[in-house]
Amino acid sequence: MKLSNPKTLTVTFLLAIGVVISIAATKPSTSKIKIATNYSDTGHFKNLQVLPKDISEDSLDHIMHSYTKALGVHCNFCHAFANGKPNFASDEKEEKGIARYMMKMTADINKQYFNFEKSTMPDTINVIKCITCHRGNPHPDEIKADGDDEHHDMMPPGPPPPNSQMPPPQPDTSKPNK
Ligand code: HEC
Ligand code: HEC
Repeated sequence: MKLSNPKTLTVTFLLAIGVVISIAATKPSTSKIKIATNYSDTGHFKNLQVLPKDISEDSLDHIMHSYTKALGVHCNFCHAFANGKPNFASDEKEEKGIARYMMKMTADINKQYFNFEKSTMPDTINVIKCITCHRGNPHPDEIKADGDDEHHDMMPPGPPPPNSQMPPPQPDTSKPNK
């Protein structure tokens, strides 16, 4: 019995590999529908590259909503939608890739510059967040340091440039001074 086990195991193993391969092979065609409909039921995420793969649905939901608030956008800013249905696992939208880059950058800033207590778990430091820079704007680089342009438009015009051909202003003698 013991001697025949390795053989059985090998066969089982090969069968398992076959199943895995066939699942992998059919994945691209089925993943769209599956993820779009199963997301809220299973809490099982397919394409996490930065966040922990075993993150709870609640935590992920919380993080995603913090992103929409921080950037002042909706889910579809980063996630692909087809016929009104989201495909959250898809990497189709460039913004999702930028968001991953931003997630790593934000974690690096916290790790490197805000680890005052020399924590051994610097990935949990959360001093700098998306909203620290974004403040409800997807393009914080377009925020001007000296206020926005509309504000400047409402300012009264400054004094006219000096004109050297005009005589210097004379005191007005037609009316008595008060
Ligand atoms: C600023 C961009 C951005 C916004 C806005 C955003 N997400 Fe995400 N989302 C991401 C990124 C990036 C990932 C992948 C994270 C990773 O790789 O660890 C992700 C992953 C997910 C996943 C996991 C998909 C999977 O199976 O791998 C779900 C579900 C999700 N988001 C839902 C939402 C919902 C719902 C909203 C709106 C409330 C939302 N997201 C808004 C960027 C965003
Ligand atoms: C240190 C400041 C800073 C932090 C923190 C930050 N961002 Fe950004 N983010 C920027 C700047 C600046 C840009 C614009 C860059 C550009 O256009 O070249 C930007 C651009 C983006 C874009 C692209 C917008 C577009 O329309 O192309 C996304 C998406 C984004 N950030 C998501 C995030 C998310 C999600 C977080 C938090 C995990 C975050 N950012 C944290 C500064 C920051």
